Amino acid sequence: MARPGDEWKHPREPGRWLYGDAWEAYPCERGELWACGGGLFAVADLALDDHEKVLSTAASLGWRVTATYTDPPWDKGISKGFRTKTFGKAVSESVDFVNDLMPSFVRVARGVCVYEMGIQHVDDLVRRIQVVHGKSAQVHPITYDRKHPCRAVSFSVGSTPTVDLSALRGYDDLDTVPIFCDVVQRHAGGNLCVWDPCTGLGTTPVNVLRAGHSFVGAELNPRRMAATLKEVSKVVGSEPVLMGKYLEDS
Ligand SMILES: C[S@@+](CC[C@H](N)C(=O)[O-])C[C@H]1O[C@@H](n2cnc3c(N)ncnc32)[C@H](O)[C@@H]1O
Repeated sequence: MARPGDEWKHPREPGRWLYGDAWEAYPCERGELWACGGGLFAVADLALDDHEKVLSTAASLGWRVTATYTDPPWDKGISKGFRTKTFGKAVSESVDFVNDLMPSFVRVARGVCVYEMGIQHVDDLVRRIQVVHGKSAQVHPITYDRKHPCRAVSFSVGSTPTVDLSALRGYDDLDTVPIFCDVVQRHAGGNLCVWDPCTGLGTTPVNVLRAGHSFVGAELNPRRMAATLKEVSKVVGSEPVLMGKYLEDS
């Protein structure tokens, strides 16, 4: 019979965990905020509207977000897969990325933003950005896994001026974050605080912190977040620490 936690066992290698053993060292849970160097990390479910609490608690701790770079789970199958690996079952068989998750992912955008997106959902995303933020977006062709075409969709939220991010064009998403930081920093004229609501295994924070900026991240899966904490601690040379909670009851 399946037991809680079984979903994180490696499917082919007994005694090993999916995403490694970092969670044993950094046992982060939903509702918590961990800090490591200039980065602040929350285990948070954006489909349950955790983001406002994450961002306001981060601001009270001195992390004021000025830009957003994210690679959300951009398809129904992908979002269900990530949930399955988090909770042992697909929470909702009917979760549809465009209708159920895209609105929350667009609402969390702050400052100068780039959203990576599968080609099939680019028009939905551009439309949603216009509806939620009243802004037009620019679409730049990029790739992921060094071969598959996808898009980097750039826009600016609120009073933040639009930044031309066409420099991203043609790059792979393993290389786009440093370019994003460079262009936005030149425009803004100072250090950035980059927000990634879907931090995953840490491509955004590793690159942002390496470039000397600060970072706020959120991730649904505690084991993926712990793996990120481990990578980030290697980059910044200090151990992650539990800073506090963004949810009262956690
Ligand atoms: C495409 S991956 C991000 C890849 C990331 N750039 C990296 O370097 O690994 C999308 C991430 O979004 C997370 N995610 C899925 N649903 C979420 C939700 N409701 N709230 C927060 N994160 C979520 C997944 O667990 C996954 O790690």
